[in-house]
Amino acid sequence: MYEKLFSPVRIGRVEIKNRVAMTPMGVNLSAPGGGVNDDIIAFYEARARGGIGLILSGICRVMDGTGAGKACQIAARDAGDLQGLGGLRDTVHKYGTRMFIQLHHPGRRVRLGVALAEWQARRSRRPDWAGFFS
Ligand SMILES: Cc1cc2nc3c(=O)[nH]c(=O)nc-3n(C[C@H](O)[C@H](O)[C@H](O)COP(=O)(O)O)c2cc1C
Repeated sequence: MYEKLFSPVRIGRVEIKNRVAMTPMGVNLSAPGGGVNDDIIAFYEARARGGIGLILSGICRVMDGTGAGKACQIAARDAGDLQGLGGLRDTVHKYGTRMFIQLHHPGRRVRLGVALAEWQARRSRRPDWAGFFS
């Protein structure tokens, strides 16, 4: 009855081992300020181990500040994020799971509280930026 569900499917050049997909969920487990950390790897690894064919990531920021959708989300801002994302990819690939990253910018739905908290945190780490954002 479920042969189709557990049969492979192809999306473009990507072969997916079954038709079980996890919808995107931003779970706020990633690094504060954006980025892959051990907690989000463990979260996705548990799902991959469970046999999911395709994981769609929760919203992934492409820039800080007004680009922040959640305080603790994965990020693809620049080359500095590639190592973390590569680690995440390698982890789910161990189980034959594929992963698509949901690139995201909140646009006019920016959460000013998240953006402001980020700016303040960054300013406290970079005293030379004092006055830049305020
Ligand atoms: C906690 C939570 C976080 C979510 N985060 C995202 C997200 O980052 N991106 C997105 O496109 N949808 C997000 N969604 C929407 C889900 O992917 C899904 O579309 C929604 O839960 C409806 O699915 P259902 O009809 O199977 O319940 C989120 C949903 C939940 C419950």
